[in-house]
Amino acid sequence: MKLGVNIDHIATLRQARGTTYPSIIEAALRAEKAGADSITLHLREDRRHMQDKDLYELKPLIQTKMNLELAPTEEMIEIAMDLKPEDVCMVPERREERTTEGGLDVTSHFDIIKKASDRLANEGIRVSLFIAPDIKQIEKAVLMGVPVIEIHTGHYANFDAGRSRDKELLTIHKAIKYARKEGLIVNAGHGLHYKNVQPIASIEGIDELNIGHAIVSHALFVGWENAVHEMKSLIEEYSD
Ligand code: PXP
Repeated sequence: MKLGVNIDHIATLRQARGTTYPSIIEAALRAEKAGADSITLHLREDRRHMQDKDLYELKPLIQTKMNLELAPTEEMIEIAMDLKPEDVCMVPERREERTTEGGLDVTSHFDIIKKASDRLANEGIRVSLFIAPDIKQIEKAVLMGVPVIEIHTGHYANFDAGRSRDKELLTIHKAIKYARKEGLIVNAGHGLHYKNVQPIASIEGIDELNIGHAIVSHALFVGWENAVHEMKSLIEEYSD
């Protein structure tokens, strides 16, 4: 199982003061050295962390691959088609939310998402849909013909260990099994940290976990490369 490191919150720290540091380029390159298998960034409509310039500066320097998260809007699709990251993960976006709070509703917005995903695929970009562990949503993703989905683990992450969390874990297990049977590549992420990643990393069939906030937070105390390396080691240990 691979680790995609989301570096949005390196940019959050920079934007808090409008400085040029911390450098997101340095963060990306050092994360790769410490074991990241891909670098994830979310260009939000309100540009609260990543800026357009960041994407263009980073793209030629990344050694692994760039996974760009975006909402399926005309503006974002145009940027992605111009930038040509290896992967695009389409996510829902609401201006007032603190972070991506739910998965895409592929059922209600099928036509918009399909049109966006077809345009990206035509540019050779691998498209992923960020969706809840819900069979109905997965069925629509299969119908749409996207190669990858990312399962939203935010709901799981909101529970402490216990019965409710186990129930959600079972839902995630079933969703992944179904998606794999249908031939999809399955990633997962959101809200994962050093104490809750283990049961998710133990699930068979996940290709990559995308993790950001917890790694940036842990880096304050152990250093950036150590934080990335620790997460990578945990995933490797539990996914064996
Ligand atoms: N995956 C997706 C699609 C996301 O939108 C995010 C948050 O930007 C993450 C993973 C990472 O979430 P976290 O920062 O909570 O690890």
